[in-house]
Amino acid sequence: MIEATHSLLSGGSRRVLTGAIPAIQLLFCIVTAEAVAGSAAWLGRGLSCVCAQRRESDDARPSFDLTPAQEECLQKLQNRIDIPYDGSVPEHQEALRALWNAAFPEEELHGLISEQWKEMGWQGKDPSTDFRGGGFISLENLLFFARNFPKSFQDLLRKQEGDRSVWEYPFAVAGVNITFMLIQMLDLEAVKPRTMVGAMFLKFLAENESAFDLLYCITFKLMDHQWLTMRASYMDFNAVMKATRRQLEKELLAEDLTRLEDLPSYKLLT
Ligand SMILES: *[C@@H]1O[C@H](CO)[C@@H](O)[C@H](O)[C@H]1NC(C)=O
Ligand SMILES: *[C@@H]1O[C@H](CO)[C@@H](O)[C@H](O)[C@H]1NC(C)=O
Repeated sequence: MIEATHSLLSGGSRRVLTGAIPAIQLLFCIVTAEAVAGSAAWLGRGLSCVCAQRRESDDARPSFDLTPAQEECLQKLQNRIDIPYDGSVPEHQEALRALWNAAFPEEELHGLISEQWKEMGWQGKDPSTDFRGGGFISLENLLFFARNFPKSFQDLLRKQEGDRSVWEYPFAVAGVNITFMLIQMLDLEAVKPRTMVGAMFLKFLAENESAFDLLYCITFKLMDHQWLTMRASYMDFNAVMKATRRQLEKELLAEDLTRLEDLPSYKLLT
């Protein structure tokens, strides 16, 4: 299990590193001021940016125009995504404690560094190392899930449903992985959405600020559903994530969709 967690994570952070750089290179931007190379932080923040939305591999990728409200919501979400987890920030420590209490209300946590964290599917005794490459938003997503859908959260945490593999995916690390996957799928680090699914999502985000967190909960539950359907074991985790992403994209692009709550997979949540 520990080996598994490790490869899951290193795969995740590698992906973030290689993901961030092409995004910067492929947008032909004239960027003024404060640009920090290799950081997604400057994307969409106070730039005068002349962007040709083109890709070497895909010359005519469209970009979608946003309403001012959508633009503002995207900006806010991007600011959230840019906050790295920082174990020295009291707010971050508190969020981590809150996650523990939501997950195991009956068990007292002995410290922010404790062997107990492994029970939640963190790699080791210090969850902060598992956020590397990922941000505070991964923690916020887990916390939102625990608070808004406690039954589903507990079922997934405790692996309550179905005929399960002897080599299970680690819950918390899979959660961090899902946050990354959604950021990529929705192309949230681009100045403007360049995919239909990204544009659709911004419609929902402008209607409800929690749209990303809600989609996260739906995705986690859908991933576990695929995991069971595919009778997967840890080696299949990537294939399960791919199937989850495909299914989610399909559902998000359904013609008559007006709310995230109408996604077929939303029904999996309780
Ligand atoms: C999730 O983990 C897998 C396995 O290590 C990795 O290959 C993949 O890139 C990760 N996915 C994301 C979206 O970070
Ligand atoms: C936004 O979505 C969340 C999660 O589903 C829900 O709890 C909340 O009531 C919604 N807010 C509004 C203003 O609709």
